[in-house]
Formats: sequence, C-alpha cells, structure tokens
Amino acid sequence: MPPALRALLAQILAWLLCLGLGRSGLLPAGLPALVLAQALGAAGISVLLGSAAWWRWIHLGFTPLLVGAWSLHLPPGAYLAAFGLLALVYWSSFRTQVPLFLSNPTTARAVAQLLPERPAFLLDLGSGTGSLVRPLARLRPDCRFEGVEAAPAPYALSWLLSRHQPNVSLARGDFWDMPWERYDLVYAFLSPVPMAQVWAKASAEMRPGSLLVSNSFPIPDLEPDQIIQVPDRRGTLLYCYHPAGGPVVRRHVPKKRPRH
Ligand SMILES: C[S@@+](CC[C@H](N)C(=O)[O-])C[C@H]1O[C@@H](n2cnc3c(N)ncnc32)[C@H](O)[C@@H]1O
Repeated sequence: MPPALRALLAQILAWLLCLGLGRSGLLPAGLPALVLAQALGAAGISVLLGSAAWWRWIHLGFTPLLVGAWSLHLPPGAYLAAFGLLALVYWSSFRTQVPLFLSNPTTARAVAQLLPERPAFLLDLGSGTGSLVRPLARLRPDCRFEGVEAAPAPYALSWLLSRHQPNVSLARGDFWDMPWERYDLVYAFLSPVPMAQVWAKASAEMRPGSLLVSNSFPIPDLEPDQIIQVPDRRGTLLYCYHPAGGPVVRRHVPKKRPRH
C-alpha cells in the first residue's frame, strides 16, 4: 500500500477508535482528551501498519495542529494559499518520494574535486534551487553544469539565481525522460526509493569513464567504487560509482602502416 494511503488509513482508524472509546465511556470528556487520544492512536496504528518512523511524528502533530489552526479562525483562503505554496515547492514528491533538501557548499567543493581536470559536463538529477550547480559553476568556470527539476518553485528560484552564470543551464522536467550519456558526472541527491532505478539508467546510458555520485543514498546491493566523507556538520557521504566499468584506460592503438 502506498505510504500516503497508509497514513490516511491510520488517521481514519484512529478516529473510529476514538468514536468507539467515546461511546463506551472510556474516553474522558473534552476536546484536549479527544485530540490527544486521536494523535496517539494514529501514531500507534502507523507503527502497526509498518509505516516509516517519521510518519509517527506526523501523526502525533497532525490533529493537534489542525485543531490549533482551527482555533485561530483563519480565513479559508489562507489554507488554500498554504496548500498552493507547498504544492509548488514539493510538486510530485508524494509520487517520487523525493522531497526537497539542499546540498551544502562544502559538498559542492567535494564534488568539484571529483570533476576531471579537463573541461567537463555535469548533470544534477533534481537540481532543486541550484544549490549544487551554482557554487560548482563558480569553482569551475571551464565546465558546464546542467540540472533538471520537476517542482516549479525551486526551479523558478534556481533559474533566477543562476541567470548571470553562463556555464549553468537549468530546465524544468523529468530526469527519467532525458538521456544521461553526454555527462562526465551525474549527481543525485534524492532518497533511497529511486536508487535502484537510477543505477539501471546510469549503467545503460553513461559512458565509460563517467562517474555517478549519490549524496547520502547508496545504490542497494552494490559496492561503491569510492565513498567520500564530506567535512560538513551532517557528515555527508558521497557514494561514487563508475557505471560503465571503471575509468577509461586509453589504449595506444598503433596506426596501420600503408602497404606498398
Ligand atoms: C533532495 S532535492 C536535491 C536538490 C539539489 N540536487 C541539491 O543537491 O541541492 C531532490 C530534488 O529532486 C527533484 N526530483 C525528484 N524526482 C524528480 C524527477 N523525476 N525529475 C526531476 N526532478 C525530480 C525534487 O523535486 C527535489 O527538488
């Protein structure tokens, strides 16, 4: 069952539980008791349904926040505006299970070390606000940095912030729908969910000698060629893979002598 449906089920079951407890007189009267019971019930049911740990915290906060916001008597348009804003930022995260969080400048410097010395071509899968490609483009003006982002708001911000950087090119779209074969380095900072699929596409399309770098999320059941520990506060790990079987070893092919 998709996680969002499981969350909805936990909420509904918790309300039914509260209804049952209320009818049987086991629930103390009053709104605070009802809210607390529903929040605890939903969090407990989410554990029983096998949801990821962070859903517990969402369930614990959901109804108390809902009742808190209701008591503020906000105009209905405020909720619509908040929903619209969140939708523009997170867009298809409910489907892709890749939310927005950003690479930091220390990580960008570590990725710069992985670029070849010659002018190279990098693609950021899901480029967010451009927080990786913008500092990289300043560090390596001889290289070209591309990014593709699905969500409108981060894309618009990345476009605005990078508009004076001639070696940055950002597009709105889906990185599954584009070829990855032109790139020397493909960077991913996604989530554990798409990593097996990322590897399938990278190994089918990327050239020998190119590098796939995944921030924080390793490819399942595959030994990385290198793991880089970034000296930042969150202890970022960069998992590096050579999709086409390792760095290119250029063989010297002797020219055929013309026959006389
Ligand atoms: C964790 S953020 C990383 C942002 C940026 N790469 C960075 O390192 O700062 C992942 C981004 O990937 C985007 N995303 C997820 N799936 C995508 C897809 N199939 N095509 C394009 N963007 C996608 C999300 O909208 C999100 O903004």
